[in-house]
Amino acid sequence: IAPKDIAAPLLAWYDRAHRRLPWRAPPGANAADPYRVWLSEIMLQQTTVAAVIPYFEHFTSRWPTVEALAAAEDGDVLAAWAGLGYYARARNLIACARAVASEHGGRFPETEAALRGLPGVGAYTSAAIAAIAFGQRAVVVDGNVERVVARLFAVETPLPAARPQLRALADTITPGARAGDFAQAMMDLGATVCRPRSPDCLVCPLVVSCDSARRGIADALPAKTPK
Ligand code: ADE
Repeated sequence: IAPKDIAAPLLAWYDRAHRRLPWRAPPGANAADPYRVWLSEIMLQQTTVAAVIPYFEHFTSRWPTVEALAAAEDGDVLAAWAGLGYYARARNLIACARAVASEHGGRFPETEAALRGLPGVGAYTSAAIAAIAFGQRAVVVDGNVERVVARLFAVETPLPAARPQLRALADTITPGARAGDFAQAMMDLGATVCRPRSPDCLVCPLVVSCDSARRGIADALPAKTPK
């Protein structure tokens, strides 16, 4: 698969079909707000998009900026988080907001490496924020992206052993421009078209490049090592 055959059709599909999610930049705006990107990515860890949306709306209307969140009482934030689960995420959320407010003057750092030092911000989240909020080329790999890549390249090695290979392949198709849109397009494709079961290859913008669609094995990938 030639990398150039992936980004162009995927971004064209994204421009047409992307989900209008509240943390994405409104049409016409050129960049998403880093605070909203960070908050959404923390909430989306282990929680579905549909479940996150009302919490995201509540948090951003009550605490519109990272400084506002940093100044909130712990108990108010934990109460607002109730129902999202995984309370360590909420604790890290508060710690991260305070670190950005006090150590970075209220502005999120812009590189993957600098983001990585913040509480609760690991490899996935730092790459996602660098790409989506700051337009930097970063390889953003979550479960959806792993599945899309495993199918595109017909990687038959099961998860989790295939992980390093899938990341390396994702790197080869990540473009230098529009890295944030590319990352979110891969996630949207995985969520809506390249679904875990019954992928809708008939409407997929990448079907002509997809090794597993050509071989009729998309449905069976990625394989998983039984627990
Ligand atoms: N899951 C995690 N981050 C996401 C994003 N930015 N868009 C859609 N789904 C996501």
